[in-house]
Amino acid sequence: MGGATNGNGFANGNGNVQSLNRADELLDAVRGLIIPFIRAADEAAPLKASGNSTVTVDGVTKNVLVETHTPEALLKRFALELPDGGRGKDGVVDLVGQVLRYSVNTWDQGFLDKLYATNTPVGVVADLLLSVLNTNLHVYQVSPALTLIEKLTARKFAGLFGFTGPRAGGIVCQGGSASNFTSLVVARNTLFPSTKTRGNAGHDFVLFTSAHGHYSVEKAAVSCGMGNASVRAVAVDEHGCMLPSALREAVLEAKSEGRTPLYVNATAGTTVMGSFDPIEPISAICKEFNLWLHVDGSWGGPAVFSAAQRHKLRGSHLADSITVNPHKMLNVPVTCSFLLTNDVSVFHVANSLPAGYLFHSVEAGAEAWDLADVTLQCGRRGDAVKLALAWTYYGAEGFESQIDHAFEMAGLLADLVQESPVLALVSSNPPPCLQVCFYYAPGGEVAEENEVNTARTREMAGRLIQRGFMVDYAPGEKGSFFRVVVNCQTLRGTVEGLVKAVEEVGKEVVR
Ligand SMILES: Cc1ncc(COP(=O)(O)O)c(C=O)c1O
Repeated sequence: MGGATNGNGFANGNGNVQSLNRADELLDAVRGLIIPFIRAADEAAPLKASGNSTVTVDGVTKNVLVETHTPEALLKRFALELPDGGRGKDGVVDLVGQVLRYSVNTWDQGFLDKLYATNTPVGVVADLLLSVLNTNLHVYQVSPALTLIEKLTARKFAGLFGFTGPRAGGIVCQGGSASNFTSLVVARNTLFPSTKTRGNAGHDFVLFTSAHGHYSVEKAAVSCGMGNASVRAVAVDEHGCMLPSALREAVLEAKSEGRTPLYVNATAGTTVMGSFDPIEPISAICKEFNLWLHVDGSWGGPAVFSAAQRHKLRGSHLADSITVNPHKMLNVPVTCSFLLTNDVSVFHVANSLPAGYLFHSVEAGAEAWDLADVTLQCGRRGDAVKLALAWTYYGAEGFESQIDHAFEMAGLLADLVQESPVLALVSSNPPPCLQVCFYYAPGGEVAEENEVNTARTREMAGRLIQRGFMVDYAPGEKGSFFRVVVNCQTLRGTVEGLVKAVEEVGKEVVR
C-alpha cells in the first residue's frame, strides 16, 4: 500500500501522522449529492395525484422513485472497482452517485412497499450522530450518554404499554426478528433455568403463534435448536386475529402429546393484514398454563401513541415481553427495534454470562449498566437515539397526530378501493392497521383462477413502478393480491393517484 493521503492528510508512507482534516472536504462533497436526492422526491410529490409521476427531460423519461434494472443488467452498469490505489474523494463521489442513482428513493411518496417507509431529517441527524460518535454500546465506560439514552427511552416507551414497575424498561436489538428471537431465549432461560447450561435437553418445547404470525418466530425456534416443527400455527378468525379457543386447544393437545408448551406469540399488527391478536384472553391462557406471553408489536406497536388506536393493544401490560420497531410505523431510520418488559432484570439474569475481559463491575442483583450483558450481542449500535431524537423533535403528541393521519390515509385508500368498479377490497374497512389489501377485479369480478389473479397482480405491480408507485403483493385465497402500505407522511394526492394508476395499468394488462 502506498502513502496516498487522499485528501485527509492522515497518513504518509512511513506512518507519520501529518495533519488531521477529516471533517470538511468529503462530507461537503457528499452533502451536495444527498440533498438533491431528497429534494427530487419532494418535487415529484405533487405529480403523484395524476397517477403517473414520471417526467421527460431531454427526451429521457425519469422516475424519481427508482431506475429499475434486472440484477444482471445492473451488474453490467454498476461500476464497483475496489481499486488497489485509493481514488480518494473522486472515487467516493462517483460511487455514492451510483448508489443514489440505482437505489430506491424511499423519500418518494410512491414508496408504499412493505412496512418501513421514508426517513425524516431528524432521522438523518440521528444516523449522522451515531456515525460521528462511532459508539459501541457494550459497556457503559465507552458509551455513557448513549447507554443512558437507551435505558431512559426504553423505560418511557415501556410505560406506554403499561409496564410501570420499578425495573420496567427494555433493550435495543438489531431488528424485530432479533427482538423476537431474544424474547424466546429469555422465555426459555427464565421458565426453565437449567436450559441456560444444558440447552433444550430433556424438553420437547412447543411454541404458539397465529397462522398470520411473522416467520421470525419459526426462525427463532430453529436458532434455539427447537426446530420450526415446534411452532404451532393457531387458527385465526375472519379478521386474521388469533382465536383464543384454538390456542387453548393447541396447548392442551401439545400437553397430551407429552410435550412442553413454552411460549405464545401474540401479534399486534400482522405482516400482511395488519390484524391485532386479542392480548387479554391470550394472557389468561398463558397464566393458566404458565406460558411466556410475548407480543410481537414490531409493526402495530406504535399505535400505542394514538388515543384512537391504542385500544387494539389492550392488555399489553399483561405481556412478559413486547417487540416494537420504531423503524416501521414511526419513520425512524432502519434499524430501530426495542424489546420491552416490566422487569428488565429478568432479561439480565437470562442473558448474562461472565466475561471478565469486558464486564468489570457485575454484582449479582445490581442494576445493569453494561447493556451487552442484558442482550445477546456484544458490540451494539446506539439505535435508541434514533427514537429519542424523533421523540424530542415531534413529541408524543406529534407521533399521535402522524399516526392518526396515517390511519386516515389507510381508511381513504380502503374507501377508494371499495368505490372503484374494478377493485375488490380484501382488508376490512377501516383497515386494522396501515396496509390495504385488494384484488384487481375488472367488471367487478375477481378472476376464478388463482393463477390469473397472481399473474395480473404481478404484472400490474411492475407497471406501477414505471409510473412511480412501488407496492407489494402477498398470496391470498384467490391468488396474490395487492398489499399497499401507507405511512405517516403519505399525502392524500398520493393515495388518490395510486388508485388512478392501478385502474389505468389494469386496463393495459387486461384488455
Ligand atoms: C409482525 C412482524 N414481526 C417481525 C418482523 C421482523 O422485523 P425486522 O424486519 O425488523 O426483523 C416483521 C417485519 O415486517 C413483522 O411484520
